[in-house]
Amino acid sequence: MTQVPNVRLADGHDMPQVGFGVYKVPQDETVAAVRTALDAGYRGVDTAVLYRNEAEVGRAVAESGLPREELFVTTKLWNDRHGYDSALAAFDESLGRLGMDYVDLYMIHWPVASLDRYVETWRALLRLRDEGRARSVGVANFTEGYLQRLIDETGVTPVVNQVELHPYLNQPELRAYHERHGIVTEAWAPLARGGKLLADPVVTGIAERHGRMPAQVVLRWHLQHGDVVIPKSVTPERIRANIELFDFALDDDEMAALDGLDVGERTGNHPDNVGP
Ligand SMILES: NC(=O)c1ccc[n+]([C@@H]2O[C@H](COP(=O)([O-])OP(=O)(O)OC[C@H]3O[C@@H](n4cnc5c(N)ncnc54)[C@H](OP(=O)(O)O)[C@@H]3O)[C@@H](O)[C@H]2O)c1
Repeated sequence: MTQVPNVRLADGHDMPQVGFGVYKVPQDETVAAVRTALDAGYRGVDTAVLYRNEAEVGRAVAESGLPREELFVTTKLWNDRHGYDSALAAFDESLGRLGMDYVDLYMIHWPVASLDRYVETWRALLRLRDEGRARSVGVANFTEGYLQRLIDETGVTPVVNQVELHPYLNQPELRAYHERHGIVTEAWAPLARGGKLLADPVVTGIAERHGRMPAQVVLRWHLQHGDVVIPKSVTPERIRANIELFDFALDDDEMAALDGLDVGERTGNHPDNVGP
């Protein structure tokens, strides 16, 4: 079974560098997929209210028999629950569905700047952190400007920002901002959702040289950049392959070739454009 290394967050907690994403994993397939992932060695699971499978994630964790403290469970506050009291209530509902008494990481899913309530929501997350019910608190889809406002108005920097990131969207300025502020970069859609990136000749060429799957090459590129990755799959062989990343390495030329694929292309929305 693969042992996944941890990254240390600025608040002192450890987070597995590879976790299992469950966006678009149907409810009736979630328990099996998460169990396959846990059996393969994943210890992080990334869910959200939006994904409608928090309860199934909780069931898979419970049925696995693994000690809760060995797992790192993330969930997120959805866009319709911004605001202090609303966020606290939304968190309780998520914990209830997960059947847990804490989560390892609670995140604001999108800033929804048009509502102008994300600072208030962040204050609620800080309370949950202080109560120990969310061990760590972070954000997703925050640009530099939104992050800076949280820091300026509350004095507390999110420990993780989960953003769309892959070789077609490398976001070098945002990465540099994260580095300056001690924020861990977590890549969503690390495989660019399994589309044309995995057939790109640069990726397939490197994969052939190493005798690896294209997805493993892309995930290895993330790890060497220091990203946390949360690839999603419902296919058992892929779930297992996506953490077999620690027995090969990309050289500088291969990293540079993959860096060179950046065209700023998103598979999802720009954070400025996501409304309630
Ligand atoms: N914060 C946010 O706003 C946000 C947004 C999107 C996603 N996320 C999180 O990030 C996670 C990952 O992102 P994502 O699910 O959008 O995309 P992804 O992980 O980049 O790609 C998933 C797709 O790639 C395929 N795939 C997986 N492993 C593969 C392999 N080894 N070879 C070939 N194809 C492979 C999967 O197919 P099969 O399943 O059919 O095997 C699926 O279609 C999500 O599950 C979620 O937890 C967060």
